[in-house]
Amino acid sequence: MSATVSAFHQLQERLVVKPCVWLVTGVAGFIGSNLIEALLKLNQRVIGLDNFATGYQRNLDEVHRLVGPERWENFKFFQGDVRDLDDCRKVCQGVDYVLHQAALGSVPRSIENPITTNETNIGGFLNMLVAARDAGIKRFVYAASSSTYGDHPGLPKVEDQIGKPLSPYAVTKYVNELYADVFARTYGFNTIGLRYFNIFGQRQDPEGAYAAVIPKWIASMIKGEPVYINGDGETSRDFCFVDNAVQANLLAATSESPEANNQVYNVAVGDCTTLNQLYEQLHLNLLSRYSHLQGAKPVYRDFRTGDVRHSLADISKAQKMLGYRPTHRVGEGLETAMVWYVRNLF
Ligand SMILES: NC(=O)c1ccc[n+]([C@@H]2O[C@H](COP(=O)([O-])OP(=O)(O)OC[C@H]3O[C@@H](n4cnc5c(N)ncnc54)[C@H](O)[C@@H]3O)[C@@H](O)[C@H]2O)c1
Repeated sequence: MSATVSAFHQLQERLVVKPCVWLVTGVAGFIGSNLIEALLKLNQRVIGLDNFATGYQRNLDEVHRLVGPERWENFKFFQGDVRDLDDCRKVCQGVDYVLHQAALGSVPRSIENPITTNETNIGGFLNMLVAARDAGIKRFVYAASSSTYGDHPGLPKVEDQIGKPLSPYAVTKYVNELYADVFARTYGFNTIGLRYFNIFGQRQDPEGAYAAVIPKWIASMIKGEPVYINGDGETSRDFCFVDNAVQANLLAATSESPEANNQVYNVAVGDCTTLNQLYEQLHLNLLSRYSHLQGAKPVYRDFRTGDVRHSLADISKAQKMLGYRPTHRVGEGLETAMVWYVRNLF
């Protein structure tokens, strides 16, 4: 175990002894439900906000089962909407740290309907900033996105070198960063943005037109449906297991270093995986469980508008300033995720 992993363990031990109050928005979603699972297991008190736009009661039910009734008592759920300032004010009362995840994800969704994406991702974000500022929150950690790198050609992606956004979704996530920065300068409000790079893992939704590639492919393979690759399959991503994102959130919220504040950080692993490689890994793993996958091949189709060709993170800033050390490389995360999908969804 490296020195910094043990620093994260020390943080966990500190939290168990000294519980704080956390607000997780988007709590019924994929990343939000993994955040409350970790927080409740660490004996924290958590308030959750969600309007079930893309989240599910079943995600909360699973966390309930996993943490047990006693820890679940420390969780209060509020069904509400970040587009409503009063809802945001209600849930911010008495909170130490905010982990703001609520947003409408997906590049294609934002291209089809930029207005709803804008209302939730920018209007909702601003409401949360105002409510959290007025409630005297210690630190506001928010889900930023690697889409902010847009058309910048540099690889690996370094936080201060960004290009032009390639989709309405990317605009909204960049505007979040601008607002957070202005709130730091204007009101002295403490924020940290985490630019997630293709997070995956248990409870990520495999269904629907806007599903992310990993859960969607796993579900299609298990059901014996075609797996579509947009483009030639050489598009690459820095896929990051959700436990790493949880770690980054906890470190960011509780960091005591003043220099770490009011910054954005890449949250990824630093591993480059092409879509063709991803297909091979998933296919190989599931083949041992599902004989119908013998000889299966992906179906190639056109590139998708708004997608960047390559995405790979430089994670040294988060390592240095937050003590972030990803515990799962891509392969380990995929193993864990696949076991979950096989057990839970089919
Ligand atoms: N998953 C990724 O790879 C990834 C990558 C970059 C950024 N992000 C960001 O991380 C955050 C969490 O993403 P996720 O993958 O868990 O998505 P998700 O869709 O599973 O979770 C989002 C949650 O927000 C809730 N929500 C949406 N609109 C809301 C509203 N108006 N009021 C209250 N709740 C609302 C949804 O119901 C859902 O539970 C989002 O901000 C997303 O943009 C995710």
